[in-house]
Parts: sequence; C-alpha cells; structure tokens
Amino acid sequence: VPTAAPFVPATEDLDRLRAAAQGCRGCDLYKDASQTVFGEGPPDAEVVMVGEQPGDIEDRRGHPFVGPAGKLLDRAITDAGLDRSRTYVTNAVKHFKHKPAAPGKRRIHSSPDRIEIMACRPWLVAEFSLLHPRAVIALGAVAAKGLLGPSFRVTKQRGVPMPWPESAYRPEDFAGEAHDDAFVLATIHPSAVLRADDRDAAYRGLVDDLRVVTERLA
Ligand code: URA
Repeated sequence: VPTAAPFVPATEDLDRLRAAAQGCRGCDLYKDASQTVFGEGPPDAEVVMVGEQPGDIEDRRGHPFVGPAGKLLDRAITDAGLDRSRTYVTNAVKHFKHKPAAPGKRRIHSSPDRIEIMACRPWLVAEFSLLHPRAVIALGAVAAKGLLGPSFRVTKQRGVPMPWPESAYRPEDFAGEAHDDAFVLATIHPSAVLRADDRDAAYRGLVDDLRVVTERLA
C-alpha cells in the first residue's frame, strides 16, 4: 500500500517536517509534480484550513493557496472576520495531480483518489501533532472525506461545527493534540466558488460558513 509514513521524521519542528516532505516518494504523484507543497502558517495558528491538493500555480511556486482559489480564500477569510495571519493552510494531498498539458498551457488538476489521500495522510497527521488549532476547516469534499470519513457529504453537512478530534475519521490519529474545545467544520472549496454558475451566492455561502467559525472563536 502506498504510504508516506517511512518519509515522515519524528520531529517537533514544522520546518523540519516541511523539508523532509520534499523527499517524499510515498506514492507516485511526486513523479509528475514540480515539488511538494507543504502547509504554511504560524505553528500557534488558531485556525487550520485543509484543502485538496496544490494547483498549477502552487506546484510552480511551492506554496499552498497562492493561485486564484487562494486569493478567493484570503478574501473570504477576511470577509468572515477571521485573521488570515493566524491561519495555517495545508492540503490533504501535497503533490499536484494533473493531466498532461501542452507546453505553456495551464495544467488541469485531477482529483486524488482514496489511495493517494490515505498515502499522504501521515503528513497531515504529523502536521496536526504539532499544531493545536481551536478550529479545523475542511475545504471541499476531498478534505472533508479525508478528515471526517468517506461517508461525509459536504453538501448536506457543511457549516456545522463538530467536536475535534472525536468526530474525525480514525480519531485516534489526532487524539490528544487538539485544544479542549476544538471543533471541525466543513465547507465548500474556494475552487467550487470559482466554477459555480452563481458565483456570488456560492461565495456568500462560503463566507457564511466561515462566519460560524468566527462566532465560535469569539
Ligand atoms: N486548491 C487547494 O485545494 N489547495 C491549494 O493549495 C490550492 C488550490
């Protein structure tokens, strides 16, 4: 079974974890990606956001959520009254999975499958072992299923705070690491807002879900 586990060092240092992740060969996605895109943000972040995987621009630059979806997410965070500078952002899968594209053309992402998500999960678990957020936000179905289990449906269960890590898929993976009153909440992915027929309504929905987080943290 593909797994990142042998590549994850025992360390208390997020920067060491990030550096080690560059050498991950736990599944095949590294072969077509430029680099590993690890999570970024303050180690004492109050809020941790988990996306799906880096996009084309993230893959080139090596930082999470710096492309169009990231710009929209930054705006939504601010509009919801959250502090972007106190937010750690990461992804369920840390390499860009994509279809081949003509040179110079933007590469189109393909959704990671369950095997790839589970292969990459040791990195996410290692990040959570060093972070102590009060709020964990799953952005979109891939992150939500990775964090909350395969039967989780974002469309039906978004915007509702649930206890973390008890509500997590395999809560023992995350046990003991959370703040006492920590919670997890799923919402739509910012890329889904960009693709929506009614972008304004989709954006308001994202901001409304994030506002639930702001209110709970107040
Ligand atoms: N979409 C994601 O899920 N993560 C990123 O880092 C960028 C786009």
